[in-house]
Amino acid sequence: MKDFIVAIDGPAGSGKSSISDIVANKLGFTHVDTGAFFRAVTLEALNRGINLENEDEYSFLDDINVIYKDGKTYVNGKDVSSLIRTGEISRNVSTPAKLKRVREKVIEFERMSSHGKIIMDGRDIGTVVLPNADLKIFLTASNEERARRRFEQNKLMGIESDYNTILKEIIERDKKDSERAIAPLKQAIDAIAIDTTKMSIDEVSNTIIKLINERND
Ligand code: CDP
Repeated sequence: MKDFIVAIDGPAGSGKSSISDIVANKLGFTHVDTGAFFRAVTLEALNRGINLENEDEYSFLDDINVIYKDGKTYVNGKDVSSLIRTGEISRNVSTPAKLKRVREKVIEFERMSSHGKIIMDGRDIGTVVLPNADLKIFLTASNEERARRRFEQNKLMGIESDYNTILKEIIERDKKDSERAIAPLKQAIDAIAIDTTKMSIDEVSNTIIKLINERND
C-alpha cells in the first residue's frame, strides 16, 4: 500500500486511540496519538508549577521534545506513558490545549511523526493538522457510553475512579475543547461520522479498515 493518511477526531472517550491502534496494527500503519502530546505538555507544566492559564510561563516548551512511538510517550527520552493518563492530567489538559503557543509547539511534534502510512487521532486533525488526509473519520458515542468506557479503562489500568465524576469531567472537557477559539473540536465537512454507542471495538475497526481499503484501490 502506498502512503495513506487517516485523520480520526472526536470527543473524549469516543474510542479514537484504541481503534486507531487496532487499525494501525492490522494494516501496518503508524498510529500517532496527538492527545498524548497535549497530555505530556500538561504533565511538564504541572511538574514545573506554572500558572497553566499564562502563556508567558510556557518558555519550557523550548527545552522539551515529545515523541510518541509504538504506543508510548517520551519527554526528552523519559517514558511518561502512565503519568499522562491520570485524572489530574485529564482535568487540566484543556487549559494548555487552548493556548496558541502550546498548539504551535505540538504541531511540530505532530509533523515530526507524520510520514508514510499514518493514522493520527485527536480533535483538530481533519480540520487543521492534516486537512488533506485521504480519509477523515469523526467518532462519537453518547456521554454515558463514553464515561462507561473510560471507567472500565481505568479499572483495567488499576486506577480507582467514580463513574459520575468521569461523566461530569468528560462533558466539561468536551465543552472546553469545542468552544475554544483555536482549532476547536469539530467535525471536518468531508469527514465520515460514526456513532459508536452500540458498536463493538471490532465493528468500528472493521468499518474503518473497509473505508481505507475502498479508498486505496
Ligand atoms: O483520550 P481522551 O479522548 O480522553 O483525550 P486525548 O485524546 O488524550 O486528548 C486530551 C486533550 O488534549 C483533549 O481533551 C484536548 O484538550 C487536547 N487535544 C487537542 O486539543 N487537540 C488534539 N488534536 C488532541 C488533543
